[in-house]
Amino acid sequence: MKIIASNFKTNHTRKSTKLFVEEVNQFLEKENIKNDVYVFPTATSLDTFEVLDNLTIGTQNAYYVKNGSFTGEIGTEQLDEFNIKTILIGHSERRHILGESQKEIAYKYNYYKALGYKIIYCVGEPLEVKEIGMTETLGYIWNQFDGIDLEYDNLVIAYEPVWAIGTGKIPTTEDIEIIHKKIKKKITQPLLYGGSVKTSNISDILDIPNVDGTLIGSGSWNVEDFKEMIKITNTK
Ligand code: 13P
Repeated sequence: MKIIASNFKTNHTRKSTKLFVEEVNQFLEKENIKNDVYVFPTATSLDTFEVLDNLTIGTQNAYYVKNGSFTGEIGTEQLDEFNIKTILIGHSERRHILGESQKEIAYKYNYYKALGYKIIYCVGEPLEVKEIGMTETLGYIWNQFDGIDLEYDNLVIAYEPVWAIGTGKIPTTEDIEIIHKKIKKKITQPLLYGGSVKTSNISDILDIPNVDGTLIGSGSWNVEDFKEMIKITNTK
C-alpha cells in the first residue's frame, strides 16, 4: 500500500493544524482507508491527537538531544510529551537554507535511529547538479547517504529534487524512474517522491515503478486537496 505524507513546513497554526488532522482522521475512517498517512506540522502545533493507527503525526525537525541549551530547537523531551516517534531528517530546506551539513545530519540520523524513531530521510540534487547529468545526480545522492545506515528497518526515504520543491517543476517520468530504481537497489524500505506533487499529477507519479508514495508540501496544505490525494493514493 502506498504512503502519503504532508509536510506543513512553516504553515498552519495550532488551531488549523488540529482541524486539519481531525478532518483527515474522519476521512480515513469514513472511507475505510488503510494507507499510511503522515502529517508533519510545525513544532508549535505538535500535540496529542486521537487518531487512527495509520495516521501518524511527526516532527519536521528536532535537535539530537533530550533537553539542554539549544536556543530555538526542540529535543526528545518535547517530543515525548506528545508521544511523537517520527521525524523528517535531511530535508533540502534544512540542508540548503538552514545550513545543516551531511555530518550533522548523519549524527542526527544516528541519534534518532538509536531511539527507534521512524525516520523519513530526504535526499535530492540541486539544479546545477541535475544539469550536469545523471551520473553526477546519482553521485550527489550517494553522498547524502554518507553516515546513514540504509539497513535501518524503521526508515522511509524520500527523493526530492531541490529544484522541484515548491516550483511547479517535476522531473520527467523517465528521470524519476531511473533514480528510484537506482536508490531501490540500495534499500528495501519504502521510497517516496517529493517535489511539486499535487492533485493533478499524483496519480501519474504513483504509477511510476518504485515510487512507494509521496511527500507533499504546498499541494497538501489545503485539506480538501490532501483528502483527494489520499483517495487517489488508496486506489493504487
Ligand atoms: P512542494 O510539494 O511544495 O514542492 O514541497 C515538497 C517538499 O519539500 C516536501 O517535503
